[in-house]
Amino acid sequence: MLFNIQTKQRAGRWLRKITIMIELKNIKSHFPIFQHHPDLVYLDNAATTQKPKSVIDAISNFYEKENANIHRGIYPLAVTASQKYEAVRGKVAQFLNAKNSEEIIYTSGTTASINLVAHSFLSPRLESGDEVIISAMEHHANLIPWQMACKDAGAHLRIIPMNELGELDLKEFENMLSSKVKMVAITHISNSLGTINPIGEITELVHQKNIPILVDGAQSVAHYPIDLQALDIDFFTFSGHKLFGPTGIGVLYGKKQYLNEMEPYQFGGDMIKNVTFEASVFADVPQRFEAGTTNIAGVIGLGAAIDFVNELDRNEVMSFLKKNEKNLIDKLLKINGLSIVGQAKCKSAIVSFSMGNIHPHDIATFLGAENIAIRAGHHCTQPVMDFFKVPATTRVSFSIYNQAEEVDFFVEKLKEIKQFFG
Ligand SMILES: Cc1ncc(COP(=O)(O)O)c(C=O)c1O
Repeated sequence: MLFNIQTKQRAGRWLRKITIMIELKNIKSHFPIFQHHPDLVYLDNAATTQKPKSVIDAISNFYEKENANIHRGIYPLAVTASQKYEAVRGKVAQFLNAKNSEEIIYTSGTTASINLVAHSFLSPRLESGDEVIISAMEHHANLIPWQMACKDAGAHLRIIPMNELGELDLKEFENMLSSKVKMVAITHISNSLGTINPIGEITELVHQKNIPILVDGAQSVAHYPIDLQALDIDFFTFSGHKLFGPTGIGVLYGKKQYLNEMEPYQFGGDMIKNVTFEASVFADVPQRFEAGTTNIAGVIGLGAAIDFVNELDRNEVMSFLKKNEKNLIDKLLKINGLSIVGQAKCKSAIVSFSMGNIHPHDIATFLGAENIAIRAGHHCTQPVMDFFKVPATTRVSFSIYNQAEEVDFFVEKLKEIKQFFG
């Protein structure tokens, strides 16, 4: 009997595994770009992901059959468009496990979301001598807005140091947390090193000192289930285009207590309750942060992208990506003169490296000619390049449609490049 149950359980597990394997193996067929470019080896997913047909269809369906402006017209088409736009807000809230959908603000992307918080939340509270903390591995989008806010206020931007592996020094971070600190902003996953930062631990530390924290989720949202309530994050940002969604749409999550205290960032239509020539009363959260006609079709596309991700087994996706990453690192380490930039113990599906004196742009050009798309450059993290004393790196970033054979092909071509340059 026991044997039978165990056999059945094992069979069930295998069946489930096989089904998921088939899904991941066939996942490319969901992405039309690979039908147009059958030989494309797309390894630049940290820059932007490819779009599944369901997302493309949702956008064209909206424009073909449902297009109207939102929150304005009272004719049926406009009402439906408004309902669909707001339904996606609920979907995003659920996807991130936010407490309620009013905490979700549509923006044009991570960059816009961070600028909004720096401008509307931080700047009015920041005084001369105050401090803002970011980490040594931030994307410029999570650096410059804080740098500018500090400059305007006469405040100091302080940097959590990292070690040679690309891991943050949390002991030093703890020492930096004083009553002068008005904001902490940290990336969940580094886009140039792949380091996954321990956000739960970091959030706990800052909240012990009552300091608000913004987490840049641009690189984490597609790979890891995010639970904003469990992590107790105050502000969270991401871009639709890194989550299989369209460009030009993103999200700012903020705890309602903070959003309610914030003045709007932009002014205009659809963000007011009442306007006279003398004064204006702004709409409640979230409308007050969505001035003008927003990217309605982008929101619809984002909703379809979340539906798509929700259909994946996210645990399977995580181990699939890990397998590809490990496979690549194992193979790269066998190449003489190649050094991996960013070797944190906790690392995501992003691998940056230098190969002797061969410039990453030369590597990218050669690989491009072989239909392999990778990124070469500073990845909008120039201070990270300075830290590792390299002008640029070559970066491979995986997604669900990358297969093991693509890693083999990539490494084979890399070896040819090395031979060519001697
Ligand atoms: C970690 C991180 N933060 C912020 C951004 C900026 O995102 P976007 O250009 O979509 O605003 C990126 C983009 O690569 C990123 O990787």
